[in-house]
Amino acid sequence: MNRALELAWHGATEWIEGLEHRSVGATASLADLRLSFSAPLPNDGTSAENVIRELIDEAKSGMHGSAGGRFYAWVIGGGLESALAADWLVATWDQNAALYSSSPASAVIEETAGEWIKELLDLPRDASFAFTSGCQMAHMTSLAAARAALLKSVGWNVEEDGLFGAPEIRVLTSDQRHITIDRAVRFLGIGRNAIEQLKTDEDGRVSPAALDSALADSSKLTMLVLNAADLNIGACDPFRKLIPMAHAAGAWVHIDGAFGLFARASRTHRHLLDGVDLADSWATDGHKWLNVPFDCGIAIVRDREAHRAAMTSSASYVAPETAARDQTDWNPEYSRRARGIPVYAALKELGRSGVEALVDRCCAYCTEIVEGIGALPGAEILARPTLNQGLLRFGRPGASPEQNDAVTDATIQRINATGEAFFSGTTWRGRRAMRVSVVNWRTSEQDVTRAIAAGAAVLTRA
Ligand SMILES: Cc1ncc(COP(=O)(O)O)c(C=O)c1O
Repeated sequence: MNRALELAWHGATEWIEGLEHRSVGATASLADLRLSFSAPLPNDGTSAENVIRELIDEAKSGMHGSAGGRFYAWVIGGGLESALAADWLVATWDQNAALYSSSPASAVIEETAGEWIKELLDLPRDASFAFTSGCQMAHMTSLAAARAALLKSVGWNVEEDGLFGAPEIRVLTSDQRHITIDRAVRFLGIGRNAIEQLKTDEDGRVSPAALDSALADSSKLTMLVLNAADLNIGACDPFRKLIPMAHAAGAWVHIDGAFGLFARASRTHRHLLDGVDLADSWATDGHKWLNVPFDCGIAIVRDREAHRAAMTSSASYVAPETAARDQTDWNPEYSRRARGIPVYAALKELGRSGVEALVDRCCAYCTEIVEGIGALPGAEILARPTLNQGLLRFGRPGASPEQNDAVTDATIQRINATGEAFFSGTTWRGRRAMRVSVVNWRTSEQDVTRAIAAGAAVLTRA
């Protein structure tokens, strides 16, 4: 056993050390990977050492360097040293962190991690929380609490009676929402047709006028889901105006703050999220800006009773809390790993000031990359970062928008093929764009220079 662990340790540290000079994008093709891994189920076993050696040798060319500082695609953080090491320990301890009794230390460490997160993000200290597999499951957890509370307010117990015959619920949300909102709504049995899209203004924010006209219909119970940084341009809705309007209409307000909520830790950027703490529930991720390894989401709910009612596996609606915290009262899973332990480690390693520095650094680097590549021939800045997300587009003079969509996608591919940086494409306001997302603690000034140089190598050769 130890030999396999030693190999894994060497493979892991070599991988981390190689992040700086290896190609950021995976280099193996689908055919290569199938050649390595598609095989019949073995009849007889092989030594653990051989299994790990083969995994290390064969998988690495099919892995992106997303743990490194030159990866700017989607919104994917890296793993802080303490968080990664803590994650290894979580796997090694192999606890079932469902109950205090099944892993006492996990329960108490996660309890502290949840309290620290609420304090860092400056959200209500008496709110309940859960460490989920990601932001989508944090949405589902939060909206399950919303469903319980809204229906309870009209005398319907959804936990006992389900949704058949229940009063209708609708979900008002931004036209710039993340797709995981729709999935959470589907999983809760509310259905995608219950979603009513609110138009955003030129800054990507839901306008008070759009909400006002939607709220004029008071025939249904209402959830409102707002963005604390949308995935494309990091737009934050005007919470201080919208949330009181929604509350006056009896709506539950939920916030998608998958990465953006962490801007609350920055004195420079927290004004962008002014009033976000007025909401009823919040979903965020540990595996994005906090830089804990995949996977870790966090749900925070103001109405503890509704949260517990929606998630607990105990029969009683308002079972008294015992002295210790059983995670299964707050989480959608029963058996689970202790995802909060890497969060505890990350917060302890960084401290409040370290999170603030990380957020500010990422925002500054994002602006540098967007402006640096945006100044190159054939590039256009579509959205200058207000936070850590920006958009670029590429094109040729006189070409049609459709042709420039193709140019944009081809340019992204060519930049990625340099191996120096890795970006993803997105569709924004109907047109293709390159998204620049900076959330990794490892990203350095040198990485930024390399990204701009990769853009220059492609665009000046075009
Ligand atoms: C704004 C936003 N919301 C939600 C999600 C979904 O997060 P997860 O993949 O952790 O479920 C993402 C992921 O990129 C996101 O950027």
